Amino acid sequence: MTEPLRVLQVSAEIFPLLKTGGLADIAGALPAALATAGCDTRVLLPGFPAIRAGLANGETVGQFTLPWGEPVQVLCGELPAVPGKDAAPVRAYVLDAPGLFDRPGNPYEDSARRPYGDNHRRFAALGWGAMHLARDLDPHWAPQLVHGHDWHAGLVPACLKLTAGKPVPCVFTVHNLAYQGIFSADVFGELGLPPSAFQMDGLEFHGQISFMKAGLFYADKITTVSPTYSQDIQTPEQGFGLDGLLRTRRNDLSGILNAVDSAVWNPASDLHIPHHYSADRLAGKAKCKAALQAEAALEVRKDAPLFSVVSRLTEQKGLNLVLAGIDAIVQGDGQLLVLGSGDHELETAFRHAAQLHPRQVALRIGYDEAYAHRIFAGSDITLVPSRFEPCGLTQMYGLLYGSLPLVRAVGGLADTVVDADLATLDDGTATGIVFASFSEADYRHAVRRALALYRQPRAWSRVRQTGMHQDFSWTQAARQYRAVYQAALPNFSRALP
Ligand code: ADP
Ligand code: GLC
Repeated sequence: MTEPLRVLQVSAEIFPLLKTGGLADIAGALPAALATAGCDTRVLLPGFPAIRAGLANGETVGQFTLPWGEPVQVLCGELPAVPGKDAAPVRAYVLDAPGLFDRPGNPYEDSARRPYGDNHRRFAALGWGAMHLARDLDPHWAPQLVHGHDWHAGLVPACLKLTAGKPVPCVFTVHNLAYQGIFSADVFGELGLPPSAFQMDGLEFHGQISFMKAGLFYADKITTVSPTYSQDIQTPEQGFGLDGLLRTRRNDLSGILNAVDSAVWNPASDLHIPHHYSADRLAGKAKCKAALQAEAALEVRKDAPLFSVVSRLTEQKGLNLVLAGIDAIVQGDGQLLVLGSGDHELETAFRHAAQLHPRQVALRIGYDEAYAHRIFAGSDITLVPSRFEPCGLTQMYGLLYGSLPLVRAVGGLADTVVDADLATLDDGTATGIVFASFSEADYRHAVRRALALYRQPRAWSRVRQTGMHQDFSWTQAARQYRAVYQAALPNFSRALP
């Protein structure tokens, strides 16, 4: 038997230890998924308190010194198993550098929500950590390929490409081009990269440093988290200034649709929901709805369509549309439940709406993993009217939990939801409500269509059934990643399993 391909994933967050968004879900699911596609995957993570605390059997396997003289111990241990998941424990390398990572709260920002002033150092450490691991820091295991995620790992390809030693190919995945890791040119000298890196053909971006650009420029292959987003980001509208570079790299760029970890997200076995159910046995869903309405202090009514939002409260997610369309839901005898945190203005606006319509609009500000599961299980419609969306996971959770997604046709939302129109209702392919332009009028019309569909129970059930039967398993995505790895490894001639 051939040996599995050794891959090091580099990510700033990972489920179940530390999560601020979908990146963590994907980083958490990839190792086991890739194992089925013939990869021996380990992960490299920053030593944030939650990650340090969750690492089991951590032992120091080596150390290195960062370019500015700060020492780092590299620990290797095991991530906690996900209950119900029948997979070998994932081995993780963790950068133990308390001066960089030992801070409470959000991994990227201080308590006033300002990015930490030394984020360039904190995430350059990930780049150098990956480089050292690729060059045999751990005598027992070294990756044949490194796969970095988002700007936090943007320096990984640069550190690998611009230093002497064994060439190790690098794949870089863009989860969200809106966050780029831009820093003043003044700190370039601290990063430890050769001066030649600071130019247009490198990581220089309008006179500043861009970690995202570094990832895109130096990686051997680039992926995004949905096929449509891989096209979207090649346009000036959605390229955040990097569309030109992305167009020059289009032959190395591909879109691989995110998948769903069924050990975590499955209404038939979900540990967080009060009643289990499936597409063929839906009684539990009605009970979840009643329980959710009671929990959220909404009127407990079977016949009231319950719309929900589980989201970071940011510009990206189109929440201004949700706010503007609340009256359409309220007048349509519906209910709205929002779970999210982020932008203060959005928090205040939703708070105000909940005060105005206490029996029909409910809000929970904060981050609550278990409540998110109960919301997908108990709600009828999952709202994701994003301005842009690299992939989006909540619309997929909505589909699988029988909470019809109402989404804008952009990025991964366009790739995962089929609009219910006369033709798709007729041929049974409809799975949700999709609207095109980012306008209040279009969004409100989509809400009205959702309300109208809800009033046609047979059509509604059919759409819901189709959604719940969607296959978002990791099998295909894992194979696609494996094919990208294969393409990045010029001398790697093994056939796909
Ligand atoms: P993004 O990564 O842009 O935030 P995704 O849809 O890809 O969007 O992933 C969001 C993930 O974060 C999902 O797992 C969702 O359930 C979760 N999530 C978002 N906000 C909250 C919250 N306030 N509480 C609990 N989970 C949340
Ligand atoms: C990003 C994107 C989201 C995507 C997630 C996981 O946070 O905003 O669309 O689903 O990454 O890839």
